[in-house]
Amino acid sequence: MEIMVRFIGELSIFLILINQYQSAEVPSVSSKLGTITGETKSVTFQGNKYQVDRYLGIPYAKPPTGDLRFQPPQPFGSFSETYNAVDFGASCPQPSYPTMPKENKTDENCLFLNIYVPRQKPDEPSGHAVMLYIHGGGLSIGSGVFYDGSVLSSVENVIVVTINYRLGLLGFLDIDNEKAPGNVGLLDQHLALQWVNENIGTFGGDKDRVTIFGQSAGSTCVAMQMMYPSNEGLFRGGITQSGALSIPGMYHENNINIAKFYARSLGCSFETKDEVLKCLKEASSETIIKVFVDATSSGDFESAASVGATPTIDGKFIRHNLGDLLKKAETETFEEIDFFRSVKLINGVSGDEGAMFLTMGGSAETLEEFEVTREQMNTQQIPGAVAIMYGNKPVPEVVQQLVISEYTDWVNPDDPKRLRQQVVDLFGDFFYNSPAIEMSRVHCNGSDVDSYVYNFLPKLDKPLIPLPKWVKHASHGDELGPVFGYSFDLRDLFNISEYTPPEWELDLSNRVMRYWTNFAKTGDPNKPNPGLSVVWPKYDVSSQSYIKFDREDSIGQYLYARPTEFWKKIVPAVIDATEHAQTVTEQFGKKEEQTCDNDGNCG
Ligand SMILES: *[C@@H]1O[C@H](CO)[C@@H](O)[C@H](O)[C@H]1NC(C)=O
Ligand SMILES: *[C@@H]1O[C@H](CO)[C@@H](O)[C@H](O)[C@H]1NC(C)=O
Ligand SMILES: *[C@@H]1O[C@H](CO)[C@@H](O)[C@H](O)[C@H]1NC(C)=O
Repeated sequence: MEIMVRFIGELSIFLILINQYQSAEVPSVSSKLGTITGETKSVTFQGNKYQVDRYLGIPYAKPPTGDLRFQPPQPFGSFSETYNAVDFGASCPQPSYPTMPKENKTDENCLFLNIYVPRQKPDEPSGHAVMLYIHGGGLSIGSGVFYDGSVLSSVENVIVVTINYRLGLLGFLDIDNEKAPGNVGLLDQHLALQWVNENIGTFGGDKDRVTIFGQSAGSTCVAMQMMYPSNEGLFRGGITQSGALSIPGMYHENNINIAKFYARSLGCSFETKDEVLKCLKEASSETIIKVFVDATSSGDFESAASVGATPTIDGKFIRHNLGDLLKKAETETFEEIDFFRSVKLINGVSGDEGAMFLTMGGSAETLEEFEVTREQMNTQQIPGAVAIMYGNKPVPEVVQQLVISEYTDWVNPDDPKRLRQQVVDLFGDFFYNSPAIEMSRVHCNGSDVDSYVYNFLPKLDKPLIPLPKWVKHASHGDELGPVFGYSFDLRDLFNISEYTPPEWELDLSNRVMRYWTNFAKTGDPNKPNPGLSVVWPKYDVSSQSYIKFDREDSIGQYLYARPTEFWKKIVPAVIDATEHAQTVTEQFGKKEEQTCDNDGNCG
């Protein structure tokens, strides 16, 4: 099942909290919502001790249950008595894995946020810069609970907020009517941002210096929020870690077919939309999740693909396919793109993103010996990849040939060890690298907004996804440890225990946290606190400069320029041309029929 979940969506990345409490006086804030009390915690990073006030499990929306299921979230409002914010709220309903973290309490009443406030004086009189994290997990799994903001907050002196939002069918059912309008999971995130805008001042935060960041599907959500003009004023920067806008299969017109699949699996009548809606409103969240689990563990790709509810072009939150919008932005003006270009951006990917897809082929041990023959490359890997890329659309043979040619090392075309790396490159380029570069180019092209790009290269001692030795770089999610200052326990989900990161990783973490929080404080990753290895240059379409994070950071240029050209320009142009050629042949053929006689005398 795990494999199928990864296949339809993206990898679940869980970080698990270490619950090390140290009691001190009880921190408390009095806001217009009422009094909220929290707890102070001590953390250690690189031998130094820090203190952070945590306010956990604050409801920002009414429980999205009963009549509110599938509905846009309603603000929670104020507390009738002092709210004791010392426990995480439940995570939103999702499958439970054998390796599920201990904090796996799930409930439909799940719209909570967690706030980490440093004990240091703010860097500006206006208050602490604020970083709101949107978790990943393919929009089907995950929770804010797993991302401990304690170290990032207290070491670098910013407020960190983590949130839950509705997942899967409960977050994205869209059956084309007001009763299930779609994208409510994204609206949850938007409401959490409004909550932060209205209330973070009480916690010592500066509502005019909010940055949103996220990884994987959470990164895609960050980009989507940056394309939603109603967010104007709610944040001024975004950090997208390995997740852009043009992911294949990300947007649908609605989720009616998915809804019908659930209704049928639940034994309901599913002829009309009303019947489907009634069925899905009455079902328990457990049975809805069970349908998901059964379908994704069935081994049947079609069933698995029938249960993944995605964002929809609902006409409100999303008015156009956002991936297509990036293409059209070169020649047309869109309100979404204008808003996108008004928000500062750090965008990046890991060095071997595509290595994540190797996990579909076996465990780390078996992957050590993994090799790909030319025959397999041509008949399995490339056609398989191309099929995922273009969904149900038939792909012209010439496109397959083009992809084979691009992903062949012509010095050594049949070397199985080169070929396996080409498979990693192929998946990485298509799913992550070229969408990311395309997004950054659109962001900065013809705009003077601050835009930055990174590539996270180093293979960590314990990669989140176990990788064979021949994979030389970091893969999907590996930057998360450094971004959060390793304040998590990977035992349950990733079976990584007693991990003490080596000193070079902690140094790297120090630098990454500094760049991220500088960006949150000033909009420039190099200010106000330098002391970093290199000055991170702005990204623009001519120089295409970016930072390479590694054991020693450096500056590079033209990151993934070739694959971006290939996937975003050449392949679409060839597809257009073959479609066009076909149309011409058809027209020409018709004309011939009409005007030529059997002896070939025409006209
Ligand atoms: C977490 O899940 C396990 C196995 O499904 C279960 O035994 C345990 O009670 C759950 N813990 C919580 C806190 O819900
Ligand atoms: C930048 O935009 C111009 C038109 O506004 C377009 O011609 C050009 O191709 C774009 N450059 C990139 C790298 O996207
Ligand atoms: C977890 O890792 C240990 C070795 O570190 C291994 O023996 C064990 O089989 C692993 N468990 C799972 C569930 O993968």
